Amino acid sequence: MSGEQHLPGEQFEDEFYKKLDRFLSPSQPIQSIEHLKGRDTELRRVQEALKTPGRHVFIFGAAGVGKTSLASTAAFLAHPTDTDPPIVSCDPNTSAMEFFELAARKLGNISLRLQRSTGSFGGALGLGGFRLKSEQSDEVVPTRLPRSIDEAVSQIQEIVGSRADDLVLIVDEFDRPNDTAFRTLFGDFIKQLSDRRVPVRLIVCGVATSLEQLLSGHTSAFRYVRDVELDRLSFQARIDIIESAAAAVGFELDRGFVYRICHLSDGFAHFVHLVTRQLFLKMRDAETKVARVQEFNAAVRCAIQEVNVTLRIAYQKATEKYSTKDEYEAVLWGLADSPELKRRSTDIFESANRIRVKLLRDEIARRTFNTRLNSLKKDSHGEIVVGSRAGGYEFRQTMMRGYCRLRAEQNDVVLDADTFNEHGEKAGAFGSRPQF
Ligand SMILES: Nc1ncnc2c1ncn2[C@@H]1O[C@H](COP(=O)(O)OP(=O)(O)OP(=O)(O)O)[C@@H](O)[C@H]1O
Ligand SMILES: [Mg+2]
Repeated sequence: MSGEQHLPGEQFEDEFYKKLDRFLSPSQPIQSIEHLKGRDTELRRVQEALKTPGRHVFIFGAAGVGKTSLASTAAFLAHPTDTDPPIVSCDPNTSAMEFFELAARKLGNISLRLQRSTGSFGGALGLGGFRLKSEQSDEVVPTRLPRSIDEAVSQIQEIVGSRADDLVLIVDEFDRPNDTAFRTLFGDFIKQLSDRRVPVRLIVCGVATSLEQLLSGHTSAFRYVRDVELDRLSFQARIDIIESAAAAVGFELDRGFVYRICHLSDGFAHFVHLVTRQLFLKMRDAETKVARVQEFNAAVRCAIQEVNVTLRIAYQKATEKYSTKDEYEAVLWGLADSPELKRRSTDIFESANRIRVKLLRDEIARRTFNTRLNSLKKDSHGEIVVGSRAGGYEFRQTMMRGYCRLRAEQNDVVLDADTFNEHGEKAGAFGSRPQF
C-alpha cells in the first residue's frame, strides 16, 4: 500500500488532484524540464542558440505540437531566477508598433521585479524620460507607442538597461497576424536588437512548415535566428507522459492501455494528457487502482467532449448538419487511417470502406466517395481537408487526425491499426482489437 492511502479522505483527494494537475495538463503548456518529454534534442538546440551572442530562436511546427511548452521550458531555464519569463502573444488586430510597445512593457516589468528581488533597485529608476516607482507591487512600467523600429529598440534598450544576463521574451502565436508587413518589421526588429547588443533574446513560436513561411522571406534576419522544427511526439515520449503520471498517483496501467492512448494521440501530447487524465478520474470514481476496459471506454467518451473546441467545431461543421454524416465520417476517418499525413484518394477510399464494413454499413460507391471528399475541401464543410496539386489529401489541422481516432475508437474502430506501436507490433499482436 502506498503512503497516500493512509491520508484522511479529503487530504487524499486534494493530493490526487494536485498530482493530476501537475502531471496531466491538457490545456496548459509545460514549463519544467521534468514534465517536458521527448524534446531533449530540441531543448539543447534552443539552449545552444541562447548561448550564442545575438542569436534568437524560432520554434515552428503544426498547431498543438508543443511549441509553447518547449519555449516556456527553455525560457524558464535561461531566464534569471525569481521571475517567470515574460510572454507576448501576437494577434491579428495588434499592429507591429503596438506589439513592440507591449514587449517593452513586459520586459520593463520583469526588469523592475528582478532589480527589486536582487536588491539593486531602491526608490526610483530613471529611464530615458520614464520614472519607475518601486513602492506599488502591481505597477506597470510606462511606455510609449514607437513610431519606428529604431524607436522600438531604443525604448527596450532604455528600459532593460545593461545586464550581465540576457532577458528572454517569448513571442507566441507569431503566425496569427498573417501580414507580410508585420513580419518584415519584426525581421528588422530582430536585426536591430542583435546589432545594438540589447540584452534580450526572443523565442518566437508559430504554426508553420518552415522558417521562411514565418519570416515571409526576410532573408537578412535569418542570420540572427536559429530555427527549431517540432514534429509530433515520439511513441516513447508519449509512454513517458502516461507512465510518470501513473507512478505519481499510484495507478497501474496494462501496457495495452498505454499503447492505445499513445496510438490514439497521433503524437499530440494534448490527447495523451486528456485521455490519461480522464482515465485516472474514472479509476478514482470506480475506486480501482488498476485500469479496466470500462474505465478506458468511459475516458475516451469524456475526452471527446473535452477536446480542444476548435477541433470539435471544425468536425461538426464538416459532418453534422448532413443526412449523410456517416459517409463524411467514414471519409475523414479513412484519411486518418495511416501514419502518413498525406494520403491518396484511392487509399482513403479503401480505408473508408474498410471502416464502413466494420460498422456493418454498406460500402460507398467510388463516385459518391469522390463527391464527399471534394465537399470536405469546401467552405461549406469548413475546408477541413486540403488537397495538393500532386493529388494527395490531408487535414488542414494535423491535430484533427487525433480527434478522428478518438471518434472512431468510440465506435469500436481502430484506425491505422497496422502501426500500433513503435516496436512494430501490429494490432494483431493484441488481437484484432487490443486485448486488455
Ligand atoms: N514535450 C511534452 N511533454 C509533455 N507534454 C507536452 C509536451 N509538449 C506539449 N505538451 C502538452 O501538450 C499540450 C499542447 O502543448 P503546447 O500548448 O505547448 O502546444 P503548441 O504547439 O504551443 O500549441 P498551439 O499551436 O495551439 O499554440 C499541452 O497540454 C502541453 O502540456
Ligand atoms: Mg502555443
